[in-house]
Amino acid sequence: MTASNIRPLVAGNWKMNGLKASMVEALVIRDGVDDPALDGVDAMICPPATLIMALSEVVSGSKVVVGGQDCHVAQLGANTGDISSEILADAGATAVIVGHSERRGDHGETDALVRAKAVAAYRAGLTAIICIGETAGQRAAGLTLDVVNRQLLGSVPDEATAQNTIVAYEPVWAIGTGLTPTADDVEAVHAALRQSLIARFGDEGRAMRLLYGGSVKAANAAELMSIANVNGALVGGASLKANDFLGILAAYRA
Ligand code: 13P
Repeated sequence: MTASNIRPLVAGNWKMNGLKASMVEALVIRDGVDDPALDGVDAMICPPATLIMALSEVVSGSKVVVGGQDCHVAQLGANTGDISSEILADAGATAVIVGHSERRGDHGETDALVRAKAVAAYRAGLTAIICIGETAGQRAAGLTLDVVNRQLLGSVPDEATAQNTIVAYEPVWAIGTGLTPTADDVEAVHAALRQSLIARFGDEGRAMRLLYGGSVKAANAAELMSIANVNGALVGGASLKANDFLGILAAYRA
């Protein structure tokens, strides 16, 4: 498989947003994604943990799959407030985001912990969506490629395959700000990540999905999604409204 025939994925990260009423958005997404013109793209919603079970039932039988936003490394135990990959899988999730910059920032998560969480995801049969990305300061200091390569190396487990792992490049300064890197900058980072993945995992690295995330909207999706080695998007704010999210998926209309 070459990079060009990787099946794209648009994943919505609802973060700490989503009430029972949000199920209506999921229904519209489910029905919208059913459009044969969108046969070439996959869709995922990562709602708050409280909605995973209901949402999984709502999208069951459709192309939309459901993911969690974080998991603990352990399978079960005295870990108040945490959630394990097994619990997520039991609720209907097939994937889990690990190492989002909001987890790294708000909870001090290190590459080593993110890697352990990815291994925990594999243990439960979940696909790990491993997030990496530089801060504004690191970018200004010219450290972007160093930072993302170090995070990639440290956060992606040796057991990673194209099937169990998705890497999401999310520049921290682009998240929720309306700012995005230039197409050339995204292309350079994704090319470097692809090279590192191939060096480490061979054909599996060649076939691994590389998502871009950070202020992806319907208005910029077509440009961002057409960049070499961008195999889809991880979307925050614009995934909360079905029509905005479907507008991003439309970048892949046949
Ligand atoms: P925004 O799309 O709101 O910038 O968030 C991106 C993100 O963090 C997805 O995980």
